[in-house]
Amino acid sequence: MPDQARSFPPDFLWGSATASYQIEGAVAEDGRTPSIWDTYSHTPGRVLNGDTGDVADDHYHRWEQDLDLMKEIGLQAYRFSIAWPRIQPNGSGPVNQRGVDFYSRLVDGLLERGIRPVATLYHWDLPQEIEDAGGWPARDTAYRYQEYASLIVPQLADRVHTWTTFNEPWCVAYLGYGSGVHAPGRTNGADALAAVHHLNLAHGLGGQVVREFAPSAELSVTLNLAVIRRASDSAEDRDLQRRMDNLQNGVFLGPLLSGAYPDGLFEDTATVTDWSFVQDGDLAIANIPIDVLGINYYNPMLVRHWDGVSPKQSADGHGDGSASPWVGIDDADILPMPGPYTSMGWPIDETGLSELLLRIHREYPGQAMMVTENGAAFFEDVDADGRLRDVDRIDYLFRHIDAMGDAIDQGADVRGYFLWSLMDNFEWAWGYERRFGIIRVEYDTGERIVKDSARWYAALIAGGGQLPPRDVVG
Ligand code: FCB
Repeated sequence: MPDQARSFPPDFLWGSATASYQIEGAVAEDGRTPSIWDTYSHTPGRVLNGDTGDVADDHYHRWEQDLDLMKEIGLQAYRFSIAWPRIQPNGSGPVNQRGVDFYSRLVDGLLERGIRPVATLYHWDLPQEIEDAGGWPARDTAYRYQEYASLIVPQLADRVHTWTTFNEPWCVAYLGYGSGVHAPGRTNGADALAAVHHLNLAHGLGGQVVREFAPSAELSVTLNLAVIRRASDSAEDRDLQRRMDNLQNGVFLGPLLSGAYPDGLFEDTATVTDWSFVQDGDLAIANIPIDVLGINYYNPMLVRHWDGVSPKQSADGHGDGSASPWVGIDDADILPMPGPYTSMGWPIDETGLSELLLRIHREYPGQAMMVTENGAAFFEDVDADGRLRDVDRIDYLFRHIDAMGDAIDQGADVRGYFLWSLMDNFEWAWGYERRFGIIRVEYDTGERIVKDSARWYAALIAGGGQLPPRDVVG
């Protein structure tokens, strides 16, 4: 199909996404207390270059300017997250009105500019006190999360169009408690699986609050589902693929969309945990009907069964004996894939996105979806004339949006696309070195520079969803 021919349904929603700790800064202002990411980023050796979210994009003070830029680009929706420790400092007690006021102003500012607010209740900033009391491996955290939801949802209720309970529970559980490369940095497989279950439970409990206090809003959750390809058709590779799929995808899709954990999961992880933390009734709670499933996609992965003898090729940094997020799976060799790569070292392969959307369409017929994150980091700089010509990012976006269009053509019910990210920000363990924004942030001054990719995206939106050629930059 020629480039110009691709178009999207008129009501398709074009947006962009951020997350609280990655952009806000102002970590000690208006009553906010530390989250696990404050603690983690201030622990030497955890984050590249010792970067922290203390100032980040200073969005807490510059939010109006940022909203104006969103309007300039023509965004129709904005996906942001709410910091629990602003709403309920220390993770207990009454609501902190000053924290609520910040998000209330933000939501009103979006609505005034005709931008639809999509709010995530949890994008990883757990109040430190709740981690100290056990964190996500502890069942009580799910109920604490429900209490937090009941403090903030009624205050913004239907002004928020879509409420998302969680962003990427896979990362929360497996990177936070399994491999330890995310906060709180624990490395215990049993804890990671207990965290998985309590996140599923908390999704349902938080969802109940949304249904009660925001009855006309949409309910959603965002998963980073994996596209796992196997190196061969051997029985070993097939079985590895099945186990990895259960551990990354089925462990969430099953409870949330079907009310059950996938077949084989408990047996495959029996050496890690007995799953006795799953109580009667939990899965029915987790299975609360959602309106739209959020999907984050960056790249696919290629795996092969490791025989335990030959050297591992592992491209994920876990061949070196450091903790793996694939708890209970000792024979995974994650293979390097052909480039090109982003500056995260992630291969660029848009076919995984259509594959993923079509898989959900096939396995959960009629399930509405949104791509809640997709984008890329590159090493890049501002040219002498002040422009940032991020042609690699435009190419990445073009390919992925086109691939999403393929999936829609084949029947997938995809309603929107949220580009990650609106602006460069604190990329977790990679600090500020990895830039995903379509707006550049000069961290020493806070200055914002609109990149060519933002102009290209603006052209796409202004053109009513007609995919513009890569060299159209507004
Ligand atoms: C996702 C996160 C998001 C951002 C992108 C690059 O895993 O949800 O906050 O860091 O990756």
